[in-house]
Amino acid sequence: RMEVTETFAGMSLPGYLHTQESLRFASSFQFRDTDVVIATYPKSGTTWMQEILTLIRSKGDLEPAKTIPNWARAPWLEHTYFKDMLQETGEPRLITTHLPCQVLAPALRKSKAKVIYMARNPKDIAVSFYHFHKMAKFLPDPGSFEDFLIRFLDGTVQYGSWFDHIKGWLSLQAELGLFYITYEDMQKELGRSVEQLAGWLGCPLQPEAIRAIQQHCSFSSMRENEMVNYTLIPCEIMDHRQGQFMRKGTVGDWRDHFTPRQNMLFHKIYQEEMQDSSLCFRWLM
Ligand code: PPS
Repeated sequence: RMEVTETFAGMSLPGYLHTQESLRFASSFQFRDTDVVIATYPKSGTTWMQEILTLIRSKGDLEPAKTIPNWARAPWLEHTYFKDMLQETGEPRLITTHLPCQVLAPALRKSKAKVIYMARNPKDIAVSFYHFHKMAKFLPDPGSFEDFLIRFLDGTVQYGSWFDHIKGWLSLQAELGLFYITYEDMQKELGRSVEQLAGWLGCPLQPEAIRAIQQHCSFSSMRENEMVNYTLIPCEIMDHRQGQFMRKGTVGDWRDHFTPRQNMLFHKIYQEEMQDSSLCFRWLM
């Protein structure tokens, strides 16, 4: 495993992807008014959103989604690999970030960039993140699910606390004009979610384009698309024998992982952490 860790803004991040320089670059980034930014805590459906936005931009033309890897279409702002790509392109940019709001808010306030915040049931995130730690060699060994869950609830996992991430971003929902959407909404009504996103982005789509996007962005279709399923990444970095990036793609997989006691602990901490938030996840239970 590549155990190097960067510490930034009070959280740990994989050193394979981040350096102090790349993180400083991200926090003072010059956003353009034409930028569309996807902000997520890891495992919330980032790749799914990258795919949908690519196809909204192309008006349903599948060509870019089938020929260009997702990270080249919607680069991660904070990763050390994409600085030049982001600066050089003159095209309207799709930008992805897992960074917390307090790091990016000052830079975002200076532009009219459009920001989409995608959230997911944190119980399912914990399960997905746990499995991802087993295959991603740039993340620490997760240990048992119990150990990992406790660190997730403590906010000491890589990328920091889920609670702080969502509370931070949603506290600026009105000010930044965030588009808030959940993984669960998209599962339930993908076509409608695509239509709403397209409308909000000012690129309304014909029903045929929406249908094409819906089909291409289904879990089964994305799982087969090597431009998004991360099979292009070599095994030393993502060990594909340990599992697949496109793992299950379902809502409620936590039920197959949590013991009743872990579930009680989760709710206790959730309530403590979220008591000052008006957020209501109706699918948490
Ligand atoms: S990352 O590493 O932060 O970029 O991961 P991220 O893309 O945010 O999340 C990965 C999870 O999203 C699931 N996924 C999907 N679910 C449903 N439909 C589609 N099309 C889809 N694409 C990706 C992926 O399977 C991971 O969830 P789990 O629960 O592990 O299957």
